[in-house]
Amino acid sequence: MIHEIDFSKGILALAPLAGFTDLPFRSVVKKFGADITFSEMISANALRYGSEKTFKMITKSPLETPYIVQIAGSDLVSIKEAVLALNDIEGIDGIDLNCGCPVPKIISQEAGSSLLLNLPHMQKIIETIKTHSNKRYTSAKVRLGFATKIPEEIAQACESAGVDFMSMHGRTRAGAYKAEVDYQAIARARASVKIPLIANGDITSYEKALHVKELTGCNSLMIGRGAVGNPWIFYQIKNELVHVEKTKILEIVLEHYDAMVDFYGEKGIAIFRKHLHTYSKGFREASEFRDKINRIEDGTLMREAIENFFAQ
Ligand SMILES: Cc1cc2nc3c(=O)[nH]c(=O)nc-3n(C[C@H](O)[C@H](O)[C@H](O)COP(=O)(O)O)c2cc1C
Repeated sequence: MIHEIDFSKGILALAPLAGFTDLPFRSVVKKFGADITFSEMISANALRYGSEKTFKMITKSPLETPYIVQIAGSDLVSIKEAVLALNDIEGIDGIDLNCGCPVPKIISQEAGSSLLLNLPHMQKIIETIKTHSNKRYTSAKVRLGFATKIPEEIAQACESAGVDFMSMHGRTRAGAYKAEVDYQAIARARASVKIPLIANGDITSYEKALHVKELTGCNSLMIGRGAVGNPWIFYQIKNELVHVEKTKILEIVLEHYDAMVDFYGEKGIAIFRKHLHTYSKGFREASEFRDKINRIEDGTLMREAIENFFAQ
């Protein structure tokens, strides 16, 4: 079944964040306002030689539609084999190419952000995905450049290679995750192509989302770290709210908790503690609550403690 992404009104995407955007987290943001979700980056080689662990990493929640799997790689044979492996999996709506990862291990394989140093090769990879994929969408997630900013060249290279849409993180590889995000550079990329372009980088509130839309001219936004500990940011932006009601926060926290237990079983109770530590920030008697939940092992008692605390 084909699930179209309606870019005409602008969409909100959850960014891929390795180690953070697991299935329970993605399903919660999807339920409360994100329009599309991405898997964490998966290496093309890992998909090619398909371990059970790799396939578990890309398992989606039934709520996640449209759902995009992101792959990282450089070698065209591995990319093709990875795409063929994904073709056998239903429920994936698109394949995204990682052209932004700054980690040395990925760079040394000429993948991730190092593709921005060789745009003709990046284009060949995109074309390989597009040729072999049976999914509706082919996309790329890029930065502004490797060491220097070349946003228009990158956007145009992606467009002419045939991507259906792209996401742009407003920093170079050299800027890592800390340099100031250059929204004007994203605006230049936006103006240089016709395909939908999703702006990404440091969107942490409803007001900032409006500001980024205005500065970049992009009506679609992607949020990563701004959603960690704050998954209601999508609900806020969708509903144009500066503040979120406490009842909604309780609903979202409970939904996340239930999804964790469904996905991880009993282990989900313990893993969820770290989320509760963040969610409780700013609430009255948060440190007593943290202390209490650190000692709860039983799932029903944990749920009750959450209800009592967030209903305050
Ligand atoms: C811990 C962490 C993991 C990330 N994992 C990925 C990834 O797997 N794929 C990817 O394209 N980008 C990844 N990114 C980059 C984010 O998707 C995003 O582009 C970047 O964090 C800027 O957006 P933000 O300020 O909204 O977080 C990661 C970033 C962080 C901090």
